[in-house]
Amino acid sequence: MTPVSDPSSFSTVSKCATKHLNLIYHVDFDKRVLKGKVALTLEVLEDKFSSLFRSLSKGSPLEITLPFELSRGQHVIVEIEYETSPSATALQWLTPTQTVGKKHPYLFSQCQATHCRSMIPCQDSPSVKHTYYAQVSVPKELVALMSALHDGQVPDPSDSSRVIYRFRQPVPMPSYLIAIVVGAVESRKIGPRSRVWSEKENVDEAAFEFSETETMLKTAESLAGPYVWGQYDLLVMPPSFPYGGMENPCLTFVTPTVLAGDKSLAGVIAHEISHSWTGNLVTNRNWEHFWLNEGHTVYIERMIARCMESEHLRQFKGIGGWKELQESVNQFGANNVLTNLVPNLHEVDTDEAFSSVPYEKGFALLYHLEELLGGPEVFMGFVKSYIQLFAYGTVTTEEWKNYLFTYFKDKVDILNKVDWNAWMHTPGMAPVKPKYDTTMADACTALCQRWVKAKEEDLASFTEEDVKKLNSPQLIEFMALLLQEEPLPLSHVKKMQEVYQLNSVKNAEVRFRWLRICVRAHWEEAVPLALKMATEQGRMKFTRPLFKEVYNFSKYSDKALNTFKENRGALHPVTAMLVAKDLKING
Ligand code: BES
Ligand code: ZN
Repeated sequence: MTPVSDPSSFSTVSKCATKHLNLIYHVDFDKRVLKGKVALTLEVLEDKFSSLFRSLSKGSPLEITLPFELSRGQHVIVEIEYETSPSATALQWLTPTQTVGKKHPYLFSQCQATHCRSMIPCQDSPSVKHTYYAQVSVPKELVALMSALHDGQVPDPSDSSRVIYRFRQPVPMPSYLIAIVVGAVESRKIGPRSRVWSEKENVDEAAFEFSETETMLKTAESLAGPYVWGQYDLLVMPPSFPYGGMENPCLTFVTPTVLAGDKSLAGVIAHEISHSWTGNLVTNRNWEHFWLNEGHTVYIERMIARCMESEHLRQFKGIGGWKELQESVNQFGANNVLTNLVPNLHEVDTDEAFSSVPYEKGFALLYHLEELLGGPEVFMGFVKSYIQLFAYGTVTTEEWKNYLFTYFKDKVDILNKVDWNAWMHTPGMAPVKPKYDTTMADACTALCQRWVKAKEEDLASFTEEDVKKLNSPQLIEFMALLLQEEPLPLSHVKKMQEVYQLNSVKNAEVRFRWLRICVRAHWEEAVPLALKMATEQGRMKFTRPLFKEVYNFSKYSDKALNTFKENRGALHPVTAMLVAKDLKING
């Protein structure tokens, strides 16, 4: 592995590398701190090594000077006793009222991309992989879970009201995959290697929603090779969880907004399962190469859809993905370097750089290569071989590309015709628009165009039958298409509610787009509904655009601002920071 510097870490990753991390935590809900001790086992990579840099709070490095010099190949264990800040950006501390059960407090972490340093003094670079053990002391009535295997639990010898949970992660992994949850959670077995965890109120609902987990795991193994992490559990998070899903090893975190009641949003699980290979086993060397994690993961996720459902579904998802890419490019601006597949992240906050670009420009590139090189089976063969070669390691875009040329050594002339610079280092849309099959999308496009073209006198022709012909993904796509058009006249939107009854739809992906359509049409009744959705759940994909949409309806800008300010203290720290920026608060 060539050591490269990490623009998102203060650590000198070329001087030393963490091999193992041993964590001891005492979880204090009153003070909202983790009191703890970490022992880092470091391998020295350079002679005359005596000082290491770590960053604890996000902005400031912690320098440790050793009382002796070490040489290359030696190991040292550094022990640090510390307490986290109540405002640590990796952590959200929830009061009982912010949980479903309303009785117990709850704590969860979200370390990706650069927040692990706020909870553990560590190198916090994805270029460094290590194993970890942990012991977590929590109040007896609560359960602790981590991104690792369970290693038993014992009464806390120093406090009879507490229990200590033990964890063991024997597979080396980057620090951004360390995760912890403490709350009143229960579990149900949903497969030979899977349980689903959540507060007891929705654990049965969750077990139903995610019943296809083992089939997805088996399908992924048939595509990408053996699953090396042992257990694959799911944890349904409190509503404020900022992402759709997070691929924490052995324990995927998932937003409750995927509980649609009909398994129609379980694609998120296929995505997080796929990270078990691309992301967790083969990891981006630094966050500039994030597309290697997400692009390949989306590619495998859609291959799972192809195997379990149909090629038509994969094609349909490709169409939806291209639209997501267009939205991101419009949002950032087509000249913004953050729309490059491989962006420069010096002086850039990874949370602010986050978008659909690495996912969908990444997927578009892989799909384009698939078409050039011989189709899905052939290209999946390459992806599997890439995984085998780089398993347990980290990779840069350059290394990925070199291996692509090696694997397809007989097709180098084809690869040389690809405009690599345009794909990787140029802002805006992908240079080639894939031609996807439109079998599943046609009905969505047709209905969207009927609404867009409809005159006042045509409105009577719409009936509830229009949407009965669409399945759930198609209804979402129909709404997404409408959002790409000019705002509909208010009369149209009101008619749409009358015939399709969309205000009472629970499916979060449908509801989110519907409420945006309504606010854009300046339907005042939708404003409180949009703000309700923006605050009752905190998935940033929904919350940020909903706040922005209301804010852009000038009559309600202040309403959006005030709603945000009233709720700010209870929001996830990263969500609060980004919504504040979106609403132009504090410069
Ligand atoms: N690893 C990501 C979530 C993430 C990325 C968190 C960067 C923090 C920083 C996860 O696998 C993901 O992509 N989630 C998506 C799911 C979707 C693509 C199915 C999400 O949250 O929407
Ligand atoms: Zn992902």
